[in-house]
Amino acid sequence: MKRFIDHQELARDSRFVRQENTLSTVMSELPDDVDKVVEVFEAFDPMIEKATRGTSAEALYDEYGPSFALVAVNDPLKPTDSAVKTRLMMRMHGIFVGELQALEGAGRSLWDFPDAPWEFKMNMARQCWDEARHVQIFEKLLDHVGAKPGMYPESTFLFECACSDDPAMRVAGVNRGLEGLACDVFRDMIRYAEETDDEKMKQAIDYVLADELTHVRFGSEWVREFTKGDPEHYERAQDFRRQVDKQFSFGGSRSDREDAAIPIATEVRKEAGFTEEELSELSTLSADGPSRVTIKAAAKILRERHKARVAAREGAPA
Ligand SMILES: [Fe+2]
Ligand SMILES: [Fe+2]
Repeated sequence: MKRFIDHQELARDSRFVRQENTLSTVMSELPDDVDKVVEVFEAFDPMIEKATRGTSAEALYDEYGPSFALVAVNDPLKPTDSAVKTRLMMRMHGIFVGELQALEGAGRSLWDFPDAPWEFKMNMARQCWDEARHVQIFEKLLDHVGAKPGMYPESTFLFECACSDDPAMRVAGVNRGLEGLACDVFRDMIRYAEETDDEKMKQAIDYVLADELTHVRFGSEWVREFTKGDPEHYERAQDFRRQVDKQFSFGGSRSDREDAAIPIATEVRKEAGFTEEELSELSTLSADGPSRVTIKAAAKILRERHKARVAAREGAPA
């Protein structure tokens, strides 16, 4: 079996539609500026449209234009929101494919580094076992909220971070960056389940969160071990993790900001080995993206332009 595959080589069956990763990279760099957000999303419009075709996101695209994903990612999940069911299904689907990619990433880390210590391989094997269980749990939760695998486009940006050929980078990016993000998202999902008295969802995600904590700990321990006696290597691993964190802040929607859709799970992260310094760094790193007001204003413009384009295409007055 081949070692170190490219993220584009990740295999999927015909139920899944792949979405290009470029947009998430661009989103992580967006400034708090309405015009800039509009400009970027207009540029990505054809790509966004293409990825929605044949999925349940198609109707959302038709209604809202390229900004549908913006709104979905940036608004906190609220039981009173009129579109909450769709947004819940989209978020659950994002988590489900995230678990799939985490399973593949951990499996790759076990296979790609045959000379790594036995304990490392055992930790990665344990993680594979956990992630496989998470895939099954979220498959059931998808069903629980009325969604199904492949219903929305899949972005493989998570797996892309699992392709580094340096084991220190691999665990820094995946186990500390991405598994840390999982802790933030799961804490927020538990909050939502509590608000809606959904005992099933609450308990299922709580079990998963307990596992993710140990995965972050694997990362915290192995980054230190792989870079022992080499401070420059340790710094490079930290830089890679920062880069991953920045990419996954979705332009500030996961941050310590008051308007954040996904707040940072500080307590859980402390338990998983994040230092105070790393946590405060994480909150500033994610905080300078577009505010929710900016996002809403940009989404409105994008929707109007989208509607005008559709009307012009159909020959009706715009
Ligand atoms: Fe997981
Ligand atoms: Fe995990």
